[in-house]
Amino acid sequence: MLAIKVPKRKAERVRRRLLELGVLARGYSIKREGDFVLFPVTERVEGFELVESEFKESRKRPHSYREVVDVPAKLRPLLPSSFDIIGDIAIIELPEELVPHGRAIGEAILKVHRHIKAVFAKGSAVSGEYRVRELMHLAGERRTETIHRENGIRLKLDVARVYFSPRLATERMRVFKMAKRGEVVLDMFAGVGPYSILLAKKADVVFACDINPWAVKYLEENRRLNRRENVIPILGDVRKISGRLKADRVIMNLPKFARDFLREAIASTRRGGVVHYYGFSHESDLFGMHEKAILKAAGELGREVKILGRRKVRPYAPRQFNIAVDFRVL
Ligand SMILES: C[S@@+](CC[C@H](N)C(=O)[O-])C[C@H]1O[C@@H](n2cnc3c(N)ncnc32)[C@H](O)[C@@H]1O
Repeated sequence: MLAIKVPKRKAERVRRRLLELGVLARGYSIKREGDFVLFPVTERVEGFELVESEFKESRKRPHSYREVVDVPAKLRPLLPSSFDIIGDIAIIELPEELVPHGRAIGEAILKVHRHIKAVFAKGSAVSGEYRVRELMHLAGERRTETIHRENGIRLKLDVARVYFSPRLATERMRVFKMAKRGEVVLDMFAGVGPYSILLAKKADVVFACDINPWAVKYLEENRRLNRRENVIPILGDVRKISGRLKADRVIMNLPKFARDFLREAIASTRRGGVVHYYGFSHESDLFGMHEKAILKAAGELGREVKILGRRKVRPYAPRQFNIAVDFRVL
């Protein structure tokens, strides 16, 4: 096959250049001959002398889909370095220029990650009351239901019909570690139950509310799947139940609109109880406006609050963060 022969001392620089150009033949071992190194290539490369040589097929498995994907060399720098994996489904965010190559990217992901059975691209931002996004099928099965494992629990869900982010697993474990045995928990925006099912391991009872009927359907299944009979799924607008029950711990995982539900959260918290509040912020004011809203809502209800902690949970957009504020209601 076609090859490029270069002195050993230049080999690393040339290897990087060939990768950049996307002309290094995949699946073959690079070869040494005395003081020279031979690279198998797929086409003639300007500035290098070509030779003909035999290469052994390499058995090394690629680590990233980027090593095997077939896209034009000039687009390679745009290939995302990561994507979300929910159960056995991959969801990738593609820049516009790569959308016409979606199928090749999907196939490459399936080839490298054998446990992934379906690949989708994000077709829109998360939007609407249910916080779901459009998805475009790229490769593999046309299936959107899966079972995701995190923090020792199993979560059945449909990635096209409900909100779910695997990137919050560490945050959920952090809240779980703060929780005490025997608590009453209110998960105001429960989704398919990643907080509720986890916290139910310690809590007496978890009231898990969501307005999306699909989320509550999966929440009910997940309660059975994980044998957590102390999770009580509630379908509907949380405004209808807030204040009518009192919890020791309240989870407000609706970062886009949580500020509008602060009165409901505080009214549903027992004296001494804790609220885990989530929001989105620009890096120039990560916590100020959220804490102001918390103090204002508490003041309107004649309650006092004590901020227990604040942190960045994850980046959300350029210079914007998903943040969390924990506060005690007195
Ligand atoms: C960002 S998702 C969080 C889901 C879940 N806590 C998680 O971590 O995966 C917010 C959820 O709130 C639900 N929701 C939005 N408005 C609501 C409301 N007024 N009452 C109850 N649930 C609501 C949405 O359907 C969505 O499932």
